[in-house]
Amino acid sequence: MQIATTRDVLRNAVTALRQQGGGRIALVPTMGALHEGHLTLVRRARAAADHVVVSIFVNPRQFGPNEDLDAYPRQLATDAALLEAEGVALLWAPTVEEMYPQGFLTNISVAGVSEGLCGAARPGHFDGVATVVCKLFNQVRPDMAFFGEKDFQQLAVIRTMARDLDLAQPQVNNIIGVPTVREADGLAMSSRNRYLSPAQREQAAALPRAMQAAIAAIEGGAPVAKALAELEADIIAAGFASVDYAVLADSASLAPLEALGDGPARLLVAARIGGTRLIDNMAVG
Ligand code: PAF
Repeated sequence: MQIATTRDVLRNAVTALRQQGGGRIALVPTMGALHEGHLTLVRRARAAADHVVVSIFVNPRQFGPNEDLDAYPRQLATDAALLEAEGVALLWAPTVEEMYPQGFLTNISVAGVSEGLCGAARPGHFDGVATVVCKLFNQVRPDMAFFGEKDFQQLAVIRTMARDLDLAQPQVNNIIGVPTVREADGLAMSSRNRYLSPAQREQAAALPRAMQAAIAAIEGGAPVAKALAELEADIIAAGFASVDYAVLADSASLAPLEALGDGPARLLVAARIGGTRLIDNMAVG
């Protein structure tokens, strides 16, 4: 596996990959601290393309001033070994200065889908995500890109950005969302789970349990507001400090729903346990 840390090396490495085998490239953008969820994306990418490029970049522009940018786990050597074992062809690991050279002035802001939910709790977060993912797409020019459905709103923002900015490659329908990978007790895998103490880690499993109970209630005909209130009460009782949001939303627009309609719906939750903010989402109906 080649490791590129500058755009020049990346460009040459991508050009070389294009000339090998069928030349189709899949990109898996990450912030590192890789877990089984990321490796699942890599395996899906390997099955679909000739070469897999993984990016590892802890993107400062998507962290708010009081968020965990400094504490975010960084373990490049460990991550590189994991990716090499998965048959990744190229690791793109730029520095902050390489990604955002002095004088960088551009910001990509996607209206609508980025405004509620995590967008409301984390102002500027999705601008940072859209800006860096647009750069990654332009730097690697992949045929397809893989993202976890765990960050469901992020996926919607990226799809909207790629459609609106006519990013020829990857085509919008080649932005592939991969179902969330879960621990044995149902907790969605996340690099931030490592912030949890052993006691908090046990309590955290209440989140997917409460979500499943709410989904069963909604699908069984219970009023959505009542099911969501019970969900919030359940996770607070289990030890969560607060709930940022617990929303039933239209899967495409992410507009809140007061009742199940004809189209696909999603239950999305963000809640804090100790100092850690966890998010999760599940299909409903
Ligand atoms: O999901 C992530 O890890 C990040 O938000 C992403 C897509 C790599 C952009 O920094």
